Amino acid sequence: MSTEDTTETSTDTETSCGATTTDTTSEGGSTSNCGASSSSSSGCGSSKKAATDEKVGSTVDDFEADPGRLVAVGLGPGQPDGMTKRARERLLQAEHIVGYTTYVDLLPEEITESAAELYDTPMCGEVSRTEEAIDRALAGHDVAIIGSGDPNVYALAGLALEILESKGATASMVDFEVVPGVPAAQSCGARLGAPLVNDSVSISLSDHLTPMPTIESRLHAAAKEGFTISIYNPWSRKRRENFQKCCEILSEHRDPETPVGIVHGAGRDDEQVEIVELQELEALGETELVDMTTTIIVGNEETYVWDGRMVTPRGYESKYDY
Ligand SMILES: C[S@@+](CC[C@H](N)C(=O)[O-])C[C@H]1O[C@@H](n2cnc3c(N)ncnc32)[C@H](O)[C@@H]1O
Repeated sequence: MSTEDTTETSTDTETSCGATTTDTTSEGGSTSNCGASSSSSSGCGSSKKAATDEKVGSTVDDFEADPGRLVAVGLGPGQPDGMTKRARERLLQAEHIVGYTTYVDLLPEEITESAAELYDTPMCGEVSRTEEAIDRALAGHDVAIIGSGDPNVYALAGLALEILESKGATASMVDFEVVPGVPAAQSCGARLGAPLVNDSVSISLSDHLTPMPTIESRLHAAAKEGFTISIYNPWSRKRRENFQKCCEILSEHRDPETPVGIVHGAGRDDEQVEIVELQELEALGETELVDMTTTIIVGNEETYVWDGRMVTPRGYESKYDY
């Protein structure tokens, strides 16, 4: 994932943070239709100034139109065939689609062509992007805000509700709906075999919103308690040390031979799948296999590899003969 992924066309309007509004219905450059605009800063240092001269930090009282709808749609792992039928239907109904550039780029043409406007921002614009989606809905449009996997897994469903509340609006006012998608842990688990069949937890190594000491203590607890662990946001140049620390903690509680499944870009063109041992994991942090589009699944004490598949027993073997 990188900010270089931005796709721009001749009808795109670049904002100060690299946000792009694509008017898919007209010839000229587009402007925001919000009726109000936002000035949120993301936690990554970039800020968005909507492509209008309208007010910033809008509240519900700044909008005169009857509100439209806001739907948070999970795309699943990436390719159109990994999207649910309901997600596809909701996206085809949306007038405006708002999302991180990489995910907007992953949308099938039938969806991008049916929307009147696409609004995308590069990585780290999640607060401004979510606020933009809300402003457009409050201004009367039917808006879909998209993300990979599921909107409830390290994603924007919660942020959307928090921002709606902070604007003095309500979820009902915009008929807020969450359309689930297949989360990365599950699509990656499917590529690996059956590693998640017993109790499992997900932990994100991103310390952008959760402090590293909290992440560390969660990792200790999960590894000690014998959960299968899905690790999200495992590695970035800035997060190299978090990955090393994570490998250290896992090695304190698990055997060096514990199977670890690594899936890079599940369902995308650059998909890679590997099953390795825990003792090999740290070195892989410096390879293309482990980056921000990778999910790592660390087996529990009973997980084994059979015929190239990771298997975590559910416990049937202790109750039944087969
Ligand atoms: C901000 S989280 C979003 C998670 C997403 N909402 C979900 O339900 O999967 C981003 C992380 O999800 C994981 N991820 C997203 N898409 C993936 C894919 N196609 N293959 C593997 N991991 C993926 C990576 O760990 C990435 O760093």
